[in-house]
Amino acid sequence: MNTFTFYTPTEIVFGKDTEAKVAELTKKHGGTRVLIVYGGGSVKKSGLLDRVEETLKAADIPFAEFGGVQPNPRLSHAREGVKAAAKFGADLILAVGGGSVIDTSKAIAHGAADLSTDIWEYWSGSKTVAQSLPVGVILTISAAGSETSNRAVLTNEETGKKCGINTDFNRPAFAIMNPELTYTIPRRQLAAGIADIMMHTLDRYVTHEEGNEFTDRVAEALLKNLIRFAKLAMTNHRDYQAMSEIMWCGSVSHNGFTSLGRTMDFGVHKLGHELSGFYDSIHGETLTTMWPAWARYVMMDKPERFAQYAENVWGVCVGTPIERARAGIRETEEFWHSLGLPLSFTELGIGIKDDAEIEKLADSLSANGTKKVAVFRPLGKEEAIAIYKLANH
Ligand code: NZQ
Ligand code: ZN
Repeated sequence: MNTFTFYTPTEIVFGKDTEAKVAELTKKHGGTRVLIVYGGGSVKKSGLLDRVEETLKAADIPFAEFGGVQPNPRLSHAREGVKAAAKFGADLILAVGGGSVIDTSKAIAHGAADLSTDIWEYWSGSKTVAQSLPVGVILTISAAGSETSNRAVLTNEETGKKCGINTDFNRPAFAIMNPELTYTIPRRQLAAGIADIMMHTLDRYVTHEEGNEFTDRVAEALLKNLIRFAKLAMTNHRDYQAMSEIMWCGSVSHNGFTSLGRTMDFGVHKLGHELSGFYDSIHGETLTTMWPAWARYVMMDKPERFAQYAENVWGVCVGTPIERARAGIRETEEFWHSLGLPLSFTELGIGIKDDAEIEKLADSLSANGTKKVAVFRPLGKEEAIAIYKLANH
């Protein structure tokens, strides 16, 4: 094994009816006044928000609501949340929802802890988060892994720039994970979430760094388990076993466990974020659109790695390493298609792009050609243009 640090302090409470513990966990993690953050209304419709508020009331914990978080959460809305938290005097931010709600809550927590800093300073890299309020989570969709990750992603709607920051201040204090709360996820979001979970492991798996056998086996087991239960969940989204397996895969995929001992790549995520930033595309769908193009573009750098994925995840055992690598990419595409996920710009619903539009995406990714992202194959403007063109059909 190579050298690593593993830090995942979030207290996870997993299983049926666990949302009933929200008041107990809030107090345990120092919350006495709670700002409840939620999205477009699914938690109202399901009755979850009412149940949470009743539990807090019964425990004499004052709370205020801050709803309206949109997918690909907006900077301006998070700024409003900072003001709401300050006005109420919140000392704990409770996210009730998915990645967008959790990431907005993380931003609010950072902003409310230091009102002299505009939160975009953290996202633009001009300042580092030095303090934050505790964030609690009640997860309603298995996807982003934000319930345990050190990441938070925002979209600056004025510039179309979507980006994330990594800091241990982004690690939630607690996460309540009741798979039954995910039964109401729309089919399209369920599929996109499954793809995102897969990609959190795949964006760590394709690497030049060898000698982390256990990390590889964990990653492969996670992917196999996820693929197996994804098929069951897509036919019956009230299958507790399937939804709980997917939920736990979602957290482990993004809490750092599947990259111990190696550098994360995340090039496909960066390519995808540009599509979400400019066209408001669903995060998981941008990943399935970009991964096959990226994989074919970089595969020859190390076909053995792709062949190992094909063999240990998809059972592709015949052929040369290059043939197996190609077969693994095709298996992945077929699986994503079977879930109704897109593999190209047209399937993503954004249409064919002209050269100027592709250059705009590549410029945004590479800061106008001045920087490269990712590790396995560093991606600058030229590489980004080539990969976007491969998906442009
Ligand atoms: O807004 P509501 O009405 O709640 O509806 C949401 C939303 O429309 C709906 N939904 C969630 N749970 C539901 C439900 N509908 C019915 N029943 C339920 N139980 O699903 C839609 C999508 O919600 P969202 O929170 O956007 O989904 P997801 O968890 O996929 O989060 C995506 C965001 O997370 C970021 C993505 O970039 C994207 O902005 N990511 C965050 C990461 C992190 N912080 O570590 C890592 C990821 O790579 C990702 O970048
Ligand atoms: Zn993701």
